[in-house]
Amino acid sequence: MNNIVLCGFMGCGKSTVGRIIAAKLGREFVDTDSYIEKEQNMTVAQIFEGYGEARFRDIEHDACLSLSKKEGLVIATGGGALTYERNISAFKDDTIIFMHVPFEEIERRIGSGESRPLFRDKSKAQKLYKTRLPLYESAADHSVDAACDKNTAADKIIEIAVK
Ligand code: S3P
Repeated sequence: MNNIVLCGFMGCGKSTVGRIIAAKLGREFVDTDSYIEKEQNMTVAQIFEGYGEARFRDIEHDACLSLSKKEGLVIATGGGALTYERNISAFKDDTIIFMHVPFEEIERRIGSGESRPLFRDKSKAQKLYKTRLPLYESAADHSVDAACDKNTAADKIIEIAVK
């Protein structure tokens, strides 16, 4: 059984909605950031601060490779993961869903963004958002409007991803 892989910008609801999808389908849920934090025994913010973003991206790639070898998971990826070709290739046999939420709504959901190193500077985050939108769209098998409540978003994704 393919994995369902959720991608999209920070705060689009990948983890919250992913958990609901997994519960509804009786599948296992994995969040790549939590997986990395457990493996490394450090928070994502500590990895960025201690070793830099490039090192985080390598660790994230290893996580994507390991998870792609499993089956039937619902995977919430970190907001940068599916902007890298090597991670898109890792999940080539899986169903990738882009959860689209407008930047203004994301800003409202995230607030100060303390635990997210790439959201501390709002204007940089907005530029990053613009750069990444087409990357998510091209990485994904399907795009879903996720600017709605979490249960509706979960149902939309299940409808698309489970045939
Ligand atoms: C990142 C998003 C974060 C986390 C890291 C980098 C990004 O995950 O992986 O801070 O590059 O957008 P969330 O999308 O779960 O916040």
